[in-house]
Amino acid sequence: MVKVNFIRDTETISVDVPVGHTIMEAAKELDLPEIPADCGGCCACATCHIHVDGVQWQQKLKIEENSLEQELLEYEKGYIEGVSRLACQIQLNDDLNNVTVKLRKNELL
Ligand code: FES
Repeated sequence: MVKVNFIRDTETISVDVPVGHTIMEAAKELDLPEIPADCGGCCACATCHIHVDGVQWQQKLKIEENSLEQELLEYEKGYIEGVSRLACQIQLNDDLNNVTVKLRKNELL
């Protein structure tokens, strides 16, 4: 199992999910409204946009240059180079145990 921490303002919400799941799937386990994940993880909607917390995790979770994910994110409100990721594109392994990401405000809520 891999522990994923989601930060919402001053609150941290954690969940353990199996290796191989994505951060988006971890968010769905918790039914987090900030991550509706409308496309179901197809890298098409960007509604799973999160900010990776801390340099340690940002270095491990660098976005692939010129990837579809990067193209999608660059048009997103709140995009921060080196920090923004799509949660559905981050597959969890033991090396990512205790990874921490920040939830973004969902304007639709
Ligand atoms: Fe749609 Fe991640 S769930 S891009």
